[in-house]
Amino acid sequence: MLQPQIEQALTTALAAVGLEDDHAVVTFSDRPDLCDFQTNCAFTLAKKARTSPMAIAEKICGAFALPDVTADFVRPGFINFTVAPALLCRDLAAIFQDDRCGIPLAIVPRRILIDYGGPNIAKPLHVGHMRSAVIGDCLKRLLRFLGHDVIGDIHLGDWGKQMGLVILGLLERYDLSGYFSENIPAQPPFSVEDLSAIYPETSAKSKTDAAFNAKAMEITTLLQKHERGYYALWEAICRLSVEDIQNDYARLGITFDLWYGESTADPYVAPMLAKMINEGLATESEGALVLEIAEESDTAPMPPVLLRKSDGAQIYASTDLATLVQRMEQFAPDEIWYVVDGRQKLHFQQVFRAARKARLVPKSTALYHIPFGTVNGTDGKPYKTREGGVMRLQDLVGIVTQGAAAKVVLDDDDGEIARKIGVSALKFGDLINNRNKDYVFDIEKFVQFDGKTGPYLQYTVARIHSLLGKCETTLDINGSFHFDEAIFRQIVMDIYKLNSAYELAFAEKLPNYICEACYTLANSFNEFYGKFRILNEENAARKQAMLLLCHAVRKCLLQVMGILGIDPVEHM
Ligand code: ARG
Repeated sequence: MLQPQIEQALTTALAAVGLEDDHAVVTFSDRPDLCDFQTNCAFTLAKKARTSPMAIAEKICGAFALPDVTADFVRPGFINFTVAPALLCRDLAAIFQDDRCGIPLAIVPRRILIDYGGPNIAKPLHVGHMRSAVIGDCLKRLLRFLGHDVIGDIHLGDWGKQMGLVILGLLERYDLSGYFSENIPAQPPFSVEDLSAIYPETSAKSKTDAAFNAKAMEITTLLQKHERGYYALWEAICRLSVEDIQNDYARLGITFDLWYGESTADPYVAPMLAKMINEGLATESEGALVLEIAEESDTAPMPPVLLRKSDGAQIYASTDLATLVQRMEQFAPDEIWYVVDGRQKLHFQQVFRAARKARLVPKSTALYHIPFGTVNGTDGKPYKTREGGVMRLQDLVGIVTQGAAAKVVLDDDDGEIARKIGVSALKFGDLINNRNKDYVFDIEKFVQFDGKTGPYLQYTVARIHSLLGKCETTLDINGSFHFDEAIFRQIVMDIYKLNSAYELAFAEKLPNYICEACYTLANSFNEFYGKFRILNEENAARKQAMLLLCHAVRKCLLQVMGILGIDPVEHM
């Protein structure tokens, strides 16, 4: 990469003229019409030396030496760097030949556990679970690409009150005595569809029918105590539901290394609570067990963490805390990332504080809640089905696939091309937004072949593919390149910017940096494509430069699509 080389040469130049600055950063130019890179270091250095920035800038430029890079100073003290076409070409060839398109591996790899997806057993998935999965999967791919040791855990919601409700609903509808005997049925008499219908019904009933609610709570508690019949029934429900969830995520190309659930942490809960009580951290309050986490510096009230309710049921926070114990014991990660809805901010503040206070997690392990906003419909309200119900992930994929199918006129018998385009529309439509913000789910906009969309990336790659397929000249990587157009330079600069976006996206845990940068690259490429008749170019060296651009852009785009979780399509 060129930028660090220029930075290095700048540091050498500074030392040569007796100046010292450990923050002599070189950035991309914000005036690409004037130069490629720039530094503002003369301003800070001038202040220290009590002279004018212009004088300092002049001195630095005089000492700056890097072949094929010139440094100029302009009023009132900026330093502009311009790269010679020959160097840009050499660098582009090197990027193209590199397996990773020039992106370095992390020097110190970290072990990072990502908790994402978080669907609930027997409850229909909603778009929030889609967001968590899409963002989490992208971050996981990014981290892995950068060389970190990553473990992705789905953290299924399989242990809460919804299980009691569903079991109660099932008991009312089916003869399930087999589960409470020695003859556990090989196949349950209910289907996944039954489960997703039962949950909303029982959930509504529990809000109006106190006896029903109490019964559901009792079953939840019995289940959590591993009462045989309920436990066997629970296992059957989980098996059905997990298979369904697996299919849903597979359609999106989203995978998990671990299919652990809240139940996985269950054996850790009781010893953890006992220890907290022993250490005087957890205290009884109106029959419930709580842990105070308020700190003196708090400016807003911080409620205590509820660890166990008066009816003995353990709740969300204690499950997350016990999961931390289990994760530390099993994986000892350096970082844990929770990709969970922003509305759970307080929950994670509480869990993290409690985990630190009870020393469940060492100081060296960082905990991050990576929040995201809501998905709204075009009416500005949370995205729902037309009937106002929860949108199932499966239906969501169906909608985007149909939207894409309406646009492709190719033979697509098995619908795979449409699915790939639809999924890319869905993922890019999500990832392009700063995840902290809400966004509008606008299928029409997402499936456009032009603009900031996934299909636009696929389209650009397919275009390059078909162009190179038609081209009779092959790329001679060691040959000579004539690299003369402004748009050539712009494309290389866009590749540099894309390459630096990976690090930025990692540092800020924001995939949208990558999306913006690859869109810009695709856009520059299409401008170039529209402007020149590449196949008919007569100047051999110029044609070679054009081919190098095509090959390098395709490779960079395919690489970034791999990180965004978007499949390429051969033709579009
Ligand atoms: N199942 C939860 C829900 O649907 C999300 C779980 C998020 N992860 C966690 N470790 N709390 O809201």
